Amino acid sequence: MQKIIAANWKMYKTRAEARETAAALARHLKEKQPEGRQVIVYPPFTAIAEVAAALEGVTCAAAGGQDVYPAAEGAFTGEISPRMLQDAGASWVLTGHSERRHVLLESDELVGRKTAFALAQGLSVMLCIGETLAERESGQLRAVLQRQLQAGLAEIAPADVARLAVAYEPVWAIGTGKVAGPQEAGEAHAIARELLREIIGAAGESTPLLYGGSVKPGNAAGLLALDNVDGLLVGGASLDADSFAQIIFA
Ligand code: PGA
Repeated sequence: MQKIIAANWKMYKTRAEARETAAALARHLKEKQPEGRQVIVYPPFTAIAEVAAALEGVTCAAAGGQDVYPAAEGAFTGEISPRMLQDAGASWVLTGHSERRHVLLESDELVGRKTAFALAQGLSVMLCIGETLAERESGQLRAVLQRQLQAGLAEIAPADVARLAVAYEPVWAIGTGKVAGPQEAGEAHAIARELLREIIGAAGESTPLLYGGSVKPGNAAGLLALDNVDGLLVGGASLDADSFAQIIFA
């Protein structure tokens, strides 16, 4: 099955820096076309057009936005609509990233509205879920994933499920250098798969389920070999084209 390797650039890179990194990545992908890999780059909003242009003609690669607001347009200062993302060249969007949930205090309910609306507008959506260390240590892993998936997928239309992916990112592993071990990641992915089946039915069997949190060139192959790991969402190690390419070709 095809694996999705996604780069989350967070609040890094000016347009010129993004253009340079995306062009270097495009060179890697043209030189050695990765088999069975779909590549997505989520730059800051200001650099989506640059990245989409640099990746044009690289059939396995696409650009996406890091967030979206669930309305077509209106008085929502600071927000961005699905159509604006598409206009800039994005075909994907992240919803519910842990930094949106924990730093910007987004609710499960808002994440659900964003996910459903972006899908309905034709974007592919990567819904992010994951527990904090305190939640894991107090035995709430399953309950947290269940709550986030139930609310995150509450309003999605059955016809849109084919454009959905889910990224499991334990909050304690994001940007900390602490990657979830095979047992921890394997357990969480098995739970997420079971929940997806419960919530969206048989289609949940083939929803791509990505792992994220301190993915590096050295641990990518091991993570991709785990059951129910259909791809990787990479933060820090995706900022450099060479290091991200190593992960793509892992
Ligand atoms: P990280 O970030 O790879 O730097 O841990 C992952 C993410 O937040 O998507």
